Amino acid sequence: MKLQERVFSGMQPTGSLHLGNYLGAMVQWIEMQKTHACIYCVVDLHAITVWQDPKELRDAIRQVTAAYIASGLDPKKSILFNQSQVSAHAELAWIFNCVARLGWLNRMTQFKEKAGKDREAASVGLYAYPNLMAADILAYRATHVPVGEDQKQHLELARDIAQKFNNDFRAQIEALGHADGEFFPQPDPVIMGPATRVMSLRDGTKKMSKSDPSDLSRINLTDDADTIARKIQKAKTDPEPLPSEIAGLAGRPEADNLVGIYAALAGKTKEAALAEFGGQQFSSFKKALAELAVARLAPLGDEIRRMTGDPVEIDRVLADGSARAREIATPIMNEVKDIVGLIRS
Ligand code: AMP
Ligand code: TRP
Repeated sequence: MKLQERVFSGMQPTGSLHLGNYLGAMVQWIEMQKTHACIYCVVDLHAITVWQDPKELRDAIRQVTAAYIASGLDPKKSILFNQSQVSAHAELAWIFNCVARLGWLNRMTQFKEKAGKDREAASVGLYAYPNLMAADILAYRATHVPVGEDQKQHLELARDIAQKFNNDFRAQIEALGHADGEFFPQPDPVIMGPATRVMSLRDGTKKMSKSDPSDLSRINLTDDADTIARKIQKAKTDPEPLPSEIAGLAGRPEADNLVGIYAALAGKTKEAALAEFGGQQFSSFKKALAELAVARLAPLGDEIRRMTGDPVEIDRVLADGSARAREIATPIMNEVKDIVGLIRS
């Protein structure tokens, strides 16, 4: 790792976490803390771009924090905190509101999806959401951002904002001693992990999602052992036995998804999973998958429940992480203010 490399990522505290979040994001964040200096943020200011019940929001912030720690995130090594406790995020987001162009935000597909038909009724915060995301990353001058496929466009916008800021204030940036004129780095998306797209257990063509009305479509990280096993038994399949090779999964989205989940949980490739189960019926495969999922996920749920029973301890972890985040962001924000021409004390 180069000295100045820094990882930043964020997760919204809305709804309950599920297997897709775990395999698509959490496992990967935890892996990166072995090799990088990492900052992980529970993005509560992003959550309120759509209405949140205040009590549920507070519970969700603590639940996401607990889930990360239960999954292996070490809050002594990595920085784990909630966004609203570090004012640099909101301050830099305002400056980026003045750097980003309306035309850039108008192209954001996630806003169009989330705002739906009645765009006039969406909050201004939902529209400016990608500027806050750019501020999250650049307030720490982070260089690597592990995210899901769906966040690629927002990352491109963060890169555009970094570049326009560097261009607009080149003289001031160089005057402050940044000889290359690069105050903000161009953050790189890191899209990887064992299962970047976990699909619904009821429909292999739809993403597993917290907003799916059917609870049977997903495995929540707080489901108990019986619930996990029952959801796998009820998962949609097709009548054919499992193929022995990857090519045989084509056109069989449910089989593909379950094999992918098995492989990710077992730390194997899909090829290895098929070598094990090729030719077998779903009934025996599902039994093995349920055993594995229960062994991996039930203790996680127990630990999340235990931790959220002690909110004082979770709040202490978040306060500690926020203080460490502030130490990095404050000097960067001071330089930003000097560059832009604001007076600070
Ligand atoms: P969200 O729950 O949409 O706020 O996403 C939080 C994180 O989990 C993001 O990094 C997503 O890319 C990831 N994620 C959400 N759902 C899935 C899924 N079904 N499969 C893989 N990753 C997911
Ligand atoms: N928008 C991201 C999501 O919905 C969450 C997020 C907010 C984020 N700020 C970030 C991700 C900064 C990476 C870096 O998943």
